[in-house]
Amino acid sequence: PTSTRQFEKLWPGLSKRGLLGEVTTPTQLPDGYVHNLHEVHEVLRAEGPVHETRLPHGLKVWVVTRYDEAKTALTDPRLAKDTAELGRLLEIHAPEGRRALDESLSEHMLNMDPPGHTRLRKLVTKAFTARRVELMRPRVEEISAELIAKLNDGDVVDLLEVFAFPLPITVICELLGIPIDNREEFRDWTNRLLTFGTTEDVQAAGAAMAGFLYQHVSKVQAAEPDDTFFSALVHATESGDRLSTEELVSMAFLLLVAGHETTVNLIGNAVFQLLKNPGQLQILKDKPELIAASAEEFLRLEGPINHATFRYTKEPVELGGVTVPADEIVVVSLASANRDPERYENPDQLDVTRSAQGHVAFGHGIHFCLGAPLARLEFDVAMTQLLARFPNLALAAEPTTLTWRDSTLIHGLHTLPVRLA
Ligand code: HEM
Repeated sequence: PTSTRQFEKLWPGLSKRGLLGEVTTPTQLPDGYVHNLHEVHEVLRAEGPVHETRLPHGLKVWVVTRYDEAKTALTDPRLAKDTAELGRLLEIHAPEGRRALDESLSEHMLNMDPPGHTRLRKLVTKAFTARRVELMRPRVEEISAELIAKLNDGDVVDLLEVFAFPLPITVICELLGIPIDNREEFRDWTNRLLTFGTTEDVQAAGAAMAGFLYQHVSKVQAAEPDDTFFSALVHATESGDRLSTEELVSMAFLLLVAGHETTVNLIGNAVFQLLKNPGQLQILKDKPELIAASAEEFLRLEGPINHATFRYTKEPVELGGVTVPADEIVVVSLASANRDPERYENPDQLDVTRSAQGHVAFGHGIHFCLGAPLARLEFDVAMTQLLARFPNLALAAEPTTLTWRDSTLIHGLHTLPVRLA
């Protein structure tokens, strides 16, 4: 078990609250963990590559914190994702019951192992080609320009609200053929699904989302095929195989959630980092052609995902000298792996000119992010336009007053107040 001594430096109140359970049970990551994410990871990484611990809401997990072990864990087939089995284990390891998701939403490829995963990924890859993504560039530029045109010099705004959120949600809704009028509802639903809500709230949000998506899928199934992405997905076939209605609902859900919560925070976290590092900002303003490649450094340093999604051990698995028994939940901290000093020099330093290749912010192995090309495209367009239009953009709050969202999955700010100039 992880020692609490180190943690007490970061959370003096910890010992008073006490550790969960018996003597042998692991340290609990305290509620404030997300606000000290990188400091906690530094302590954990220094102590070892893999830690038995509890997440703030009580779920007992094994956290992988070092780069090499993270990559190994993400490619080891003994670390599985099968929904039914994982659901059973989540119930065992979370004393207060798992935060169940509507079943029709959880049967997607990110929750599957081969061969089910292979089949779904093949069908969706057929519709989500690199060519279709690059063809979206002019439209992404248009959406971004429309949002920027609404902003005025001198205004103080929440950049997440007026720019970083509406851009990717508009893009992903257009990709799925979903009317943009529904986007506020989507934001509310996904927010409730991803943060520490009550089980009832999570289920209610999931049911509402599933109901909406069923209707949408049925509409596209009934319509003539066209050349939009979602129509291509609905009508895609692979050796006579195609996606069922249920699979399409789950896939649409996965794309909606994965496709906007992440990109919002890639843009938001990058702007936050740049405004705290004026020298780095100047480099990108002087050489905007570096912006596209700099996405990798922002993904590495302050990527939008802390832990990858849950995996479980089908049998005992040894990782970096630590044996994780069978039937345990494993979370790989991408955020921690990406700041491993064994892999990156001065890992806590933003350096937009470094080669951050090899980071694991998009995951690794068979579940490697399907939307990475789209996310990179959106980042390039958004940052290029934002810095060109508002070269003197500044934070409108003390950096230390900004707070992080209460999620162990998503790493993003609640708000990002900036002065436009
Ligand atoms: C999977 C990150 C944007 C769709 C993943 C995974 C990560 C990730 C870490 C793997 C999770 C795991 O193995 O547990 C990101 C980041 C993004 C981003 C950091 C933005 C900066 C997008 C976008 C889309 C998307 C824009 C869709 C258009 C998906 C899908 C999967 C996935 C479908 C599941 C792939 C599979 O299971 O085979 N993403 N993502 N992501 N992502 Fe992304």
